[in-house]
Amino acid sequence: MTELAYVNGAYMPIEQAMVPVEDRGMQFGDSLYEVVRLYGGVPFRDRGHLERMQAGANVVGFETDFIAQLREVIGVLASRSGLDDAFVYLQVTRGVCPRIHAAPDGLEPTVIATVRAFDRLPGILYRKGASAYTEPDIRWGRRDVKATTLLPNILAATRVQKKGGYDAVFFEEDRVVTEGTVSNLFAVIDGEIRTHPVGAKILAGITRGATIEAAGRAGLNVREEAFTLEDLWHAEELFFTNTYCEVLPVVTVDERTIGEGSPGPVAGTLLEHFKNIVREETGHH
Ligand code: PDD
Repeated sequence: MTELAYVNGAYMPIEQAMVPVEDRGMQFGDSLYEVVRLYGGVPFRDRGHLERMQAGANVVGFETDFIAQLREVIGVLASRSGLDDAFVYLQVTRGVCPRIHAAPDGLEPTVIATVRAFDRLPGILYRKGASAYTEPDIRWGRRDVKATTLLPNILAATRVQKKGGYDAVFFEEDRVVTEGTVSNLFAVIDGEIRTHPVGAKILAGITRGATIEAAGRAGLNVREEAFTLEDLWHAEELFFTNTYCEVLPVVTVDERTIGEGSPGPVAGTLLEHFKNIVREETGHH
């Protein structure tokens, strides 16, 4: 089992992987990324991750067609690493040039990737439920683009982690709840599952999509309509979804109890159906 890196066509140990100091990803966060989970060494929905990355590349004007290349990279990293439970981190930057804000045309993108073992979240977090803390959403206006320019997420996530929470509940000036710093957010409000609609205000999470499919399998409807902090305080259930946590129940926000204060039946049902989807598609969970 080896953790490995890929840089512009070459595979190597992670410690040897380097990029130039004038890479625009390093200097400006002029770059996109994805995190793909491996179950039993098999990527889950890598195509979906790469399509999202391609869509982001089209928005920010990266001149490359890297989907096929990165699918191969994910496959090679998965097989050469021999890791079962792992994740592949992918990053594409606009390229290397002397520092100037306006992006020059025709740069050769920098393509890097790493594969690392994944330690699953402790089971007790699912049995007892996680905590979350509210944070004003001060991010940019194209959150559907998975850019590495993540300072607002990092500052909020750091504050939340210091308080022992799993993730933030980002809310906008009108008190509409968007998502977390690293996850999407769902609530059960008046018996109905709700989550923010996709668009420029949130990332269209791969796990979010699979969770909506899981709800369909369970005969439950998801209303993709935004809810406010006031709705959240009266929610019966709340849960985060992402590539790492899958479906994680949240039982307190800002130390206030949500619902019964314990993981609810909807989150539990969706997690089970989500795991079934993963098993069907990868043969593992
Ligand atoms: N982030 N929203 C944000 C802001 C995210 O950063 C992520 C994932 C998600 C969930 O997306 P997905 O279900 O495709 O993982 C939602 C990754 C895991 C990260 O930044 O490490």
